[in-house]
Amino acid sequence: MFDAKTTCMVVVGAQWGDEGKGKLVDVLAERADLVVRYQGGANAGHTVVIGDTQFILRQIPSGILHSGVTCIIGNGVVLEPENLFAELDSLHQRGIDTAGRLFISDRAHLVLPYHKLLDAASEKSQKLGTTGRGIGPAYEDKYGRRGIRVTDLRRVECARMLLSDRVHRANQLLQLMESTERADLDEHVRLLERLAPRLLPLAADAGLLLHRAIKDRRRVLLEGAQGALLDVDHGTYPYVTSSNTTAGGAAVGAGIGPTAIDGVLGVVKAYTTRVGNGPLPTEAPAPYEQRLRELGGEFGAVTGRPRRCGWFDATVVRYAARVNGLTGLAVTKLDVLDSFPEIQVGTMYRLGGEPCEEMPAEVEALGRVEPVYETHAGWQRPTGTARRLADLPSAARSYLDRLQELSGAPVRYVSVGTRRDQIIEV
Ligand code: GDP
Ligand code: IMO
Ligand code: MG
Repeated sequence: MFDAKTTCMVVVGAQWGDEGKGKLVDVLAERADLVVRYQGGANAGHTVVIGDTQFILRQIPSGILHSGVTCIIGNGVVLEPENLFAELDSLHQRGIDTAGRLFISDRAHLVLPYHKLLDAASEKSQKLGTTGRGIGPAYEDKYGRRGIRVTDLRRVECARMLLSDRVHRANQLLQLMESTERADLDEHVRLLERLAPRLLPLAADAGLLLHRAIKDRRRVLLEGAQGALLDVDHGTYPYVTSSNTTAGGAAVGAGIGPTAIDGVLGVVKAYTTRVGNGPLPTEAPAPYEQRLRELGGEFGAVTGRPRRCGWFDATVVRYAARVNGLTGLAVTKLDVLDSFPEIQVGTMYRLGGEPCEEMPAEVEALGRVEPVYETHAGWQRPTGTARRLADLPSAARSYLDRLQELSGAPVRYVSVGTRRDQIIEV
């Protein structure tokens, strides 16, 4: 992964999120100096399993579990401070020392309780199936130039003035959306006053820290959240999240130039899942879907919602390879397919009877496409102990070869279980 020419890598989800980015970043972080989250917020749930212990990281980069790694939360993240502290406390309780190695960009925007009230109220009409973490409303405020940033806590005496305008506006919107909920100004002021002393010592000019690290040839991983099809520009709009989840967002959200990035690894499951509403062309018929869900443990890490499951969709991954400029793929959860006698792969779509090889812009059209499937023989042998490609059954290797061919990006890693050691480097 890292070599003399490659020191700054982006890891992104190349489907609809939950591809196993946390596991990959944890594995790769063993050789990294810094790991950076650059977009999204507490809507992410990145699972890392070490021995029998499972960690679910929401806002803290998955590199935190390696004691020598410095972690940065970049300017592009919308930070929910209370959740961050709960995450930190839980890490400390489990013996992970984070002192001196977590920094938060002073330009990151804050997610406050009124954002969550607005998220819940707009879900009543929009029905996107959001995670309810206030992500959309926080990004709306950021781009509306009325956000509150980490650096604003440095003048916490001004918080009441800032907040009174925001809380008033939020309450007007809640009324407009016919919600009976109201945000409370005093509660918000007290919250910021309470959070500031704990948050400010972590605040830093994260872009500058990173710039210096990259100049010193330190090894950097930029950890994406969500996935390409949830990108606000390139995803299945409007059933998307509110940030740029694709690799272009890494430079902006970490505060570095795009020329600093040496490669982009796209994480994909050996099949497809989606949580939340919106089209999922290769969604499998109930018996297959249930089996994938059970074997893959496909329940949301944040909300516990059952994930919708289906076959590998090569149109999706080909598209993700293009819009991310993927230089490699990490295929995860191959082991979940171990017991299937036959496995389907969607190679392209048909739309109104015509071939369709590219993602349509219109969500309505994507809802109507019919995937063209090819059937692969299953291997019906456990793969969890494989550590080299040669250890895999030949049918599993053929399956991976085909995914690579259809996706147009080389497979660099194959994950065959939740644990750190269950990884094949190709
Ligand atoms: P992320 O959001 O992309 O980090 O992914 P999540 O953590 O939300 O979901 C991935 C789930 O799959 C987690 O429960 C992981 O522990 C699990 N996982 C990751 N890689 C593998 C794998 O290769 N095999 C199996 N069986 N589970 C995996
Ligand atoms: P990780 O990083 C899967 C989905 C939600 C919803 C849509 C918008 O763990 O892969 P939001 O709360 O962001 O406004 O919800 O995006 N979503 C995710 N799905 N994995 C995630 O993160 C997600 N983060 C958001 O389910 O459909
Ligand atoms: Mg997840």
